[in-house]
Amino acid sequence: MSWNRHHLLDIESLSAEDLTTILDTAMAFKSVGERAIKKVPALRGKTVVNLFVEPSTRTRISFELSEQRLSADIIHFSAEASSLKKGETLKDTAQTLQALNADFIVIRHSASGAPHFLSRVLNAHVINAGDGAHEHPTQALLDTLTIREKKGRIEGLNVTILGDILYSRVARSDIWALTKLGARVTLCGPSTLVPRTFERLGCRVTHNMEEAIRDADVINLLRIQHERQRRSAFPSLNEYVQLFGLNKRRLALTKPDAMIMHPGPINRGVEIDSDIADGDRSVILEQVTNGLAVRMAVLFLINGGGPQEIAA
Ligand code: CP
Repeated sequence: MSWNRHHLLDIESLSAEDLTTILDTAMAFKSVGERAIKKVPALRGKTVVNLFVEPSTRTRISFELSEQRLSADIIHFSAEASSLKKGETLKDTAQTLQALNADFIVIRHSASGAPHFLSRVLNAHVINAGDGAHEHPTQALLDTLTIREKKGRIEGLNVTILGDILYSRVARSDIWALTKLGARVTLCGPSTLVPRTFERLGCRVTHNMEEAIRDADVINLLRIQHERQRRSAFPSLNEYVQLFGLNKRRLALTKPDAMIMHPGPINRGVEIDSDIADGDRSVILEQVTNGLAVRMAVLFLINGGGPQEIAA
């Protein structure tokens, strides 16, 4: 269980074997989380900078906690209080952090490709915490970990991703991870947000919600990414809710064991009714919990860690 990658930039460039290594390592870290002492010394003496230039709750806090659990020194970079506000470039900012001996840069940025750009100009390890509408690799890893844990496998499952696919980095990373691991992925939403071009990634595309959810083992709902849409992709929010919102009536059409997922943040009453988000089919908070183990696994493997260190 060793890894020779210097960065985690996307899921697209990972193999099924890479994904399985990360998921298996994350399971080992879940066991560490059940011990009385939840810390391991794997990143002792290493400095991690969390360079979040776009808002985040789940990803930022779960990276911070993962780094603490691995005994790293952590720097919280606040874009609002930084010299980015005075016109400093991302490259100069990142090279400044590296000159201060940062070993890892965890970056969230509104520009697709920002982590890839940094990986070309830095020696530090770069981890993508979400870049524009491109990818959100650790979200896909925690999603696949949650599915594997709950369903016992990924291969052969029908996974439906519903909502704003076009502007979603989560959708792209999930599609790569799930198809590489052998799931059948269906995408559904308004045609303006779910173009047929996604069929090229090996997905089924439908604009009929009932058809999309009928055979699904897993239903993953996404919010409308208003911050990335230049103009509204549908006539009204009310019409979107009528056609694509997951409500009690539609839930009754699904398989009795169909699992409900959402990466968050949730827009209750839009893509999902509150009762369903909080109901017994929902694994939304378990996804958040799994984010901790997945991020520990990613940091650990990129640092060159092996199984004996997790046992320590
Ligand atoms: N799922 C996710 O990326 O959530 P945050 O934006 O809160 O990090």
